[in-house]
Amino acid sequence: MRIGILGMGTAGGRHLRAFRQISGVDLIAADIDADRRRQAEAEGVPVVPSLDDLLAARPDAVVIAVPHAYLAQAGMRAIDAGCHVLMEKPMATCREDAAAVLQHARRASRFIMVSFVHRFRPEVAAARRVIARGDIGQPRLIVDTMASGTSDMPLWVWSRRHAGGGMMFYNGIHQIDRVRFLLGEDIVTVRAEVRTLGYQVQVEDTAAALLGLRSGAVGTVVQHKAPAAALGGWETQVFGSTGSLHITTGREMRWTAGGDVITIPGTPEDRFSGAANEFIAALREGRAPEPDGEDGFAALDVVLRMYSEGASRAIS
Ligand SMILES: NC(=O)c1ccc[n+]([C@@H]2O[C@H](COP(=O)([O-])OP(=O)(O)OC[C@H]3O[C@@H](n4cnc5c(N)ncnc54)[C@H](O)[C@@H]3O)[C@@H](O)[C@H]2O)c1
Repeated sequence: MRIGILGMGTAGGRHLRAFRQISGVDLIAADIDADRRRQAEAEGVPVVPSLDDLLAARPDAVVIAVPHAYLAQAGMRAIDAGCHVLMEKPMATCREDAAAVLQHARRASRFIMVSFVHRFRPEVAAARRVIARGDIGQPRLIVDTMASGTSDMPLWVWSRRHAGGGMMFYNGIHQIDRVRFLLGEDIVTVRAEVRTLGYQVQVEDTAAALLGLRSGAVGTVVQHKAPAAALGGWETQVFGSTGSLHITTGREMRWTAGGDVITIPGTPEDRFSGAANEFIAALREGRAPEPDGEDGFAALDVVLRMYSEGASRAIS
């Protein structure tokens, strides 16, 4: 099976290294930037300059890993050329474009996977299993916090034109997907504060949301990028009717239903490998990969609702 990867930046490079571990997969990459092409070629993969060149190599599927404003158009072009797509989040920067991507895929009978790779972290997958088995009863409250200090991030992430939104698109959308994934249900109400507090940028660096789930459960999501070094944290707590669990992302998941506290360690397994394995397995089995385009649309919709809720005080 031939997989094309569009965009050889941080995410594209990680997809490349994940897919190359799967036997029977043959890779080709594309990037408009000559330095990025040289770096990728040094990893032994053929690299072309454009999506057209990539599609000319007739891949079965394409990973779309370019800045947010260009994801949807590239995804639709790949689908129209007959390819399945693994779309980086947020898939699109508005509902209309995301809906168009889904429509193109339906029309062409192609599959879409959205790269919510954090579902494939062992500690997150274990938490989902605990909740789905009913081990903590009916979930009532989920609290998800992701806050960090300065880090290496592409500069376009702060540009409205290239990114469409700020830290909610770059990081926080993973948290929204995590709420939906862990609880296994839809978010139906959204209230939010969305602010630009620490950086002189066009998009938000801080956001907090209060979410209502279909069952009546409540969720909070807090996303923050501090403008200095910080003691960051990425944690999720779920309180159910008979027990609770606590994920320390990248480290462990602990849960209890009143007796012992059971600890499931995170492992160094690469989350991009989990996503690549699922994508290839699904295509080989002829089934839709998970998370799919509908999951991508649902998470994007919640972030856009946060933006319109928080807009008056938010993004200049
Ligand atoms: N799933 C995750 O955990 C995760 C992690 C990081 C980034 N991402 C996502 O991946 C996408 C890319 O982010 P990144 O951090 O890798 O950015 P990046 O800036 O590191 O890489 C983007 C690459 O795309 C190339 N590019 C831009 N326009 C192009 C075009 N028209 N044709 C070909 N190449 C083009 C750039 O030259 C660059 O090399 C974004 O959607 C981002 O949100 C996801």
